[in-house]
Amino acid sequence: MSTDVSETRQPTDRGSPVVRTIAMPADTNPAGDIFGGWLMGQMDLAAGNVAARRARGRCATISVDAMAFHRPVIVGDEVSIYAWIVKVGRTSLRIQVEVWRREREGETTMKVTEGLFTFVAIGSDRRPRPIPPEVEETWEV
Ligand SMILES: CC(C)(COP(=O)(O)OP(=O)(O)OC[C@H]1O[C@@H](n2cnc3c(N)ncnc32)[C@H](O)[C@@H]1OP(=O)(O)O)[C@@H](O)C(=O)NCCC(=O)NCCS
Repeated sequence: MSTDVSETRQPTDRGSPVVRTIAMPADTNPAGDIFGGWLMGQMDLAAGNVAARRARGRCATISVDAMAFHRPVIVGDEVSIYAWIVKVGRTSLRIQVEVWRREREGETTMKVTEGLFTFVAIGSDRRPRPIPPEVEETWEV
C-alpha cells in the first residue's frame, strides 16, 4: 500500500474514476465533517462495480484491508474513486481503491483515502463460484 500522502496528482494511468460524486451536507457526521462510513460505502460501490464486471455476476465483499484515511474530505469536494484489480483468485478478486478530492472551486487534487477490497463471486445460492475467463471489452456504435 502506498502511504505517500504528498501525492497530489490523480492516477491518470488508472483511467477514469469508477465513481465521481460531490460530498454533500447529508454525508456528514454529527460534527459536520464528512462521515468515514459514507466514504467507505462509496469505495465499496466502486470496487463492487469493478468486481461484478470482471466476475460477470453477483459478488460479495468479504474483507477490507489496509484502509487508511490520509486527509479529510470537505463538503462540496468533488470526490473521485479509482478502483482496479490487483489479483484474480479462483473465486475472489482483490481490488485496490483510491479516493481523491478536488476542492470545489480549485484545481488542487489530493489522495484522501485508500483500501484493499476483496470480493467473492457468488452464485444464486450465495456460495462462491469460479471467476470466469476475462473477455475483451467491446464497443458498439
Ligand atoms: C462470501 C462468502 C459466500 C464466501 O464463503 P466462504 O465459505 O467464506 O468462502 P471460501 O472459504 O470458499 O473462500 C472463497 C474465497 O474467498 C477468500 N477468502 C475467504 N476469507 C477471506 C478473507 N477474510 N479475506 C480475503 N479473502 C478471503 C478465499 O481465499 C477464497 O478465494 P479464492 O477462491 O480466490 O482462493 C461468505 O463468506 C459470505 O457470504 N460472507 C458475507 C458476505 C457479505 O454479506 N458481504 C456484504 C456485507 S454487507
